[in-house]
Amino acid sequence: MATAPSPTGSTTTMGTYSSLIISNNSYSAFLPNKSQLSFSGESKRYIARRSSISCKATNPNNNNNNNEKQNQQEQSNNLLGKLDRRNVLIGLGGLYGATTLAPKPLAFADPLAAPDLTTCKLAEITTGGETVECCPPVSTKIKIFTPDTSIQLRTRPAAQLVTDEYLAKFKKAQALMRALPEDDPRSMVQQAKVHCAYCNDAYPQVGFPDIDIQVHFSWLFFPFHRMYLYFYERILGKLIDDPTFALPYWNWDSPDGMFILSGCFPIPDIYTDTTSPLYDQYRNAAHQPPVLADLGYGGTDDDVDDQTRTDENLAIMYRQMVSGAKTPDLFFGHEYRAGDTTTSSYAGTIENSPHNNLHLWCGDPNQTNGEDMGNFYSAGRDPLFYAHHCNVDRMWNIWKTLGGKRKDPTDTDWLDAEFLFYDENAELVKCKVRDSIHPEKDLRYTYEPVNVPWLFTKPTARKPKTKTKAKVAATELTTKFPATFDSKTTVEVARPKPKKRTKKEKSNEEEVLIIKDIEFVSNEAVKFDVFINDDADSLSRKDKSEFAGSFVHVPHQQKTGTKKTNLKLGITDLLEDLGAEDASSVLVTLVPRVAKSTVTVGGFEIEFSS
Ligand code: C2O
Repeated sequence: MATAPSPTGSTTTMGTYSSLIISNNSYSAFLPNKSQLSFSGESKRYIARRSSISCKATNPNNNNNNNEKQNQQEQSNNLLGKLDRRNVLIGLGGLYGATTLAPKPLAFADPLAAPDLTTCKLAEITTGGETVECCPPVSTKIKIFTPDTSIQLRTRPAAQLVTDEYLAKFKKAQALMRALPEDDPRSMVQQAKVHCAYCNDAYPQVGFPDIDIQVHFSWLFFPFHRMYLYFYERILGKLIDDPTFALPYWNWDSPDGMFILSGCFPIPDIYTDTTSPLYDQYRNAAHQPPVLADLGYGGTDDDVDDQTRTDENLAIMYRQMVSGAKTPDLFFGHEYRAGDTTTSSYAGTIENSPHNNLHLWCGDPNQTNGEDMGNFYSAGRDPLFYAHHCNVDRMWNIWKTLGGKRKDPTDTDWLDAEFLFYDENAELVKCKVRDSIHPEKDLRYTYEPVNVPWLFTKPTARKPKTKTKAKVAATELTTKFPATFDSKTTVEVARPKPKKRTKKEKSNEEEVLIIKDIEFVSNEAVKFDVFINDDADSLSRKDKSEFAGSFVHVPHQQKTGTKKTNLKLGITDLLEDLGAEDASSVLVTLVPRVAKSTVTVGGFEIEFSS
C-alpha cells in the first residue's frame, strides 16, 4: 500500500487516553471542538420528507390490503418510468402536500412490513449456483413485542474486561445454544440463519413479491441488528436461567485502557480458545491476537507498525463518528421503505467502515465465500459476530450523545418498519424500529463504560506540496462517467458553493461528496479509498485529513448478481482542515484496494444536506 509518512509525524500520545474514562451518558462535553458540533434544531430532513410523502392520513384509498398496495406500486412504477422514484416522490409531495385542493399522490411510501415466513425461499450464496436454507420454522402465532420495563437492567461488558465468573456463564450459555436441536428457532444454527435470511434475498417484501428484504445499506441497519442481538442475548440468558446475562462487546474502537502501549484492538481472547464454544474455526489465521484489528482493512494486509495502526484506527473512528457523521442520513444511511430496493441507497458511516472492514478482516480467506464473518449468509455462525455487533450498537448510543443534529430519525416509515424474531421462549415476535430506540428503558440493557479515546483524535492535514493533476476535469465528468476503474484515478469535482461559509452555515448544512452508482459483483469483496486534494503518487496516511474515507462491501449473493449503491462522505471539516473552503473544486482520488471483477462508478457530485 502506498503510504507516505506524514511530514508532521504522528503526534498522538497514547499515554493521555487512560484518564478519559467516561461514566455518564454524555460525551459531548469532552469533544475537542465543541462549538463546531453544537448545532441546534431538529433533523428537518426526515421530518420534512415524512410530511411530504406520507399518504396514510390523507389518502382514502390507502389500506392494508397487499394486492391494493401492489397495484398502486405497479401503477406508480409505470408512471414514473425510469426516473428516480424518490426524487419524483419529493416533487409530488411538495406539490400536493402544500395544498388541500390538489389531488393526492398514490400511497406507496410505507414502512417495511415484517416478512411473511411462509414465502421464505432458499438463499443463493453463489451466482446461479449453490443455495442454502436460511428460513426459520413457520409459526402462525405472532406476538407483538411489548417492552417489559420491569426487568432488571443488564450491563454488556467490554470483552477484554470480563471476569472468570462471567466467562464461565457465557460459555455455558453458548454451549447450550449450540446443543439445541437444529430445528429449534433458538439454536445457534437457526440464529445464524436469521442474518442470512434478512441479508441474502430469502424474504420477498410483503406486497412486492419481486423485491427482497435487505437490512444493510440503509437506515434499517442499526435497528435490525439491535433487535437481533436483543433476542439472541435473551435466549442465552434463558438457557442459563439468568435474566441478567448480557452479551460482551468487542471494544474495537479503543486501545485497551490498561495496557495502552502494548496490544490494542485485537480479537478478544475469550473468542480465541479453540476448546471454547465461543470459538469458530473459519477465521483469518493471520488476524489472531496480538495482531491489531485494522479498522481500515480491505482484503490485504498493509505492513504498518502498531503505533501507526492505532493512530489510523482512532482517526477512522473520529471521521466516522464525529466529523463525517454530522447528520442522521450520513450516520444511519439512506431511507428504505416498503417497495424500495437498495440501488439508490447508501450505507451509514459506521456500517460502511469499520463495520464492513471488520467482517472482511475476520473471515477466513481460504473459504470460498470468505466464511464465516466475511460473508453475510454465514457471519452469524461465528459468536464473534455478536460481540462485533454489540460494539456497532454501542456506537449508535454514543453518537446520539455527541450533540448537533445527531438524533434518531422521526420519520414514521423508519419508526414503524417491522422485523420478526423468535424470542427466548421460542415464540415468534413482531417488533418495530420504534421498540429499539430507547435501549435502556425498553430493552433494559446498557454498556459498561470505557475509554472513548477517538473523541480526541481529529485527523490533521498533510497539505502535500505536489498535488495530482486530475485525469478528468470537472467539465468532463458527466461525459467520462460512468466508467470502470481498476487503478488510481483522480477527478476534479466542482463545488456548488465555492465560498468560505460561516460557522452557522456550516452547522446548518453539511457539504457532502457523493460517489454515485458504484456497481460491482455482489458476492465479492470491494474496497476503494477516497482522498481529497492529495498527492496520488505518495498518498497520505489514514490519520490525515486528506483521507476522506472508504467504500467497503461485504460479499453476499443477491439474485441480481451485481450490486449498485452509493457512497456519501461529509467533507465540511475536511475542507476546513485543508484550507480549501473557497476553492471552486476539489481533486478526488479513488484508490482501488480490493476487487476481483470490474467496479464501475457512475459519477461524482457535491451536495449540501441539512
Ligand atoms: Cu448484518 Cu455485520 O452485518
